[in-house]
Amino acid sequence: MKPGITLKLFLAILAACALASIAMAVATRLSFQSGFLGYLDQSDGQRLDTLSARLADEYRKRGSWDFIRNDYRQLRELALPEQPQQRLTLLDASRRTVVGNPELPDDAAMRSVTVDDRVVGWVARAPFRRLSSAAELAFQQEQLRAAWIIAGLAVVLAGAVALVLARALLLPVKRLAQATHQLAAGAYDTRVEVRSGDEIGRLGEDFNRLAHALERNEQLRRRFVADVSHELRTPLAIARGELEAIEDGVRPLTRESIASLKNEVDSLGKLVEDLYQLALADVGALAYRKEPLDIAEVARETVDAYGERLRERGLHVDARLAPAKVFGDGDRLGQAFRNLLENSLRYTDRGGQLRIGVRREGARVAVDFEDSAPGVPADALPHLFERFFRAEGSRNRAHGGAGLGLAIVRSIVEAHGGVIKAAASPLGGLSVSIELPSQP
Ligand SMILES: Nc1ncnc2c1ncn2[C@@H]1O[C@H](COP(=O)(O)OP(=O)(O)OP(=O)(O)O)[C@@H](O)[C@H]1O
Ligand SMILES: [Mg+2]
Repeated sequence: MKPGITLKLFLAILAACALASIAMAVATRLSFQSGFLGYLDQSDGQRLDTLSARLADEYRKRGSWDFIRNDYRQLRELALPEQPQQRLTLLDASRRTVVGNPELPDDAAMRSVTVDDRVVGWVARAPFRRLSSAAELAFQQEQLRAAWIIAGLAVVLAGAVALVLARALLLPVKRLAQATHQLAAGAYDTRVEVRSGDEIGRLGEDFNRLAHALERNEQLRRRFVADVSHELRTPLAIARGELEAIEDGVRPLTRESIASLKNEVDSLGKLVEDLYQLALADVGALAYRKEPLDIAEVARETVDAYGERLRERGLHVDARLAPAKVFGDGDRLGQAFRNLLENSLRYTDRGGQLRIGVRREGARVAVDFEDSAPGVPADALPHLFERFFRAEGSRNRAHGGAGLGLAIVRSIVEAHGGVIKAAASPLGGLSVSIELPSQP
């Protein structure tokens, strides 16, 4: 098993603490050694002063150094009988060795021996290189042991704290990891609780957003598949019913029955074609052949083509089409207008009105389609451009479509860098306004 992130963090914290403890122990040891030796040297210095005074007394009595020449024991006893010194040297006035080690190190401590203001000799003592007496060594040992015990305790304590810290710090990360695991397994309703505003908190927020988007996409996908199969099934079932009736001789095979069958096949064909168009737009494969064109021209041609059907339905058309150049695909834009006109034909009461406007507004071109009642309930307006969306009411109409027309219109408008909006029209029906960038 690979070490978990908790273990790694724990080890990292522990290692840092252990390193700090060891460094402290070593530093204590070093500073203790030099400090303690320094202390010993200093107290030795005071003894050296005493020794130099005693030697001066002796010299005054005897008049020369002969009494002590090569007699180290006597020098030692003079120094301090109760604490014998090993590193002493006595020199005469011209710095020749009288007694003691003739090789003096440079950093040896020196005191002059003065009799009646005259320097008669020098006493020197080499500094401590290491601890010598048993008591001093024992003291040092004691100090070192204490330092190591403290370091050990510090490491144990650090370990305990590191364990708690590692667990506490990584708890939200673990929760996130677990949630991600669930999300990856398809549980799109997974959310994490965001408790902090730090990076992990922000990660949690992003996770929730991601999960929400996935959940919504999944819902849309399911609805889409259900809608598609439903929309395909209905005309198929009708056609099959009619065919069976003809087969069974319930219904005669007439021109009318064939026309009715063709009707169903046509609506199936339109549905499949619309779905295909949207699928192509989704993958960005819908080909646009754009060129500078007058969109008012496209609108006029479309309206003219619908003239007969509009008149049949008794719709009064008011078209105000000012020339406006755009860079676009005339066929696709015509298709968008046809979809809008189809809707007006389908969802406007007989004898109603239709107003179509094209005008330039600065760098934009505005195209408006407004018709009279019936309209769309306000809460349905934001959803009109969704696939398979139909406002309540039109759903039950005999000749309601699949709800793909406006989705196609939007994909065409967006492919031209434009925006499309739906609102209630002042005429009582629906108003669809399109804005496209104009071609200079
Ligand atoms: N001019 C309009 N007046 C009133 N309601 C409209 C109008 N245009 C569209 N709607 C409503 O918006 C819904 C969606 O329109 P859309 O064109 O996308 O689908 P459809 O016309 O039902 O089917 P399709 O266009 O795919 O044949 C319609 O079902 C209708 O309820
Ligand atoms: Mg439509």
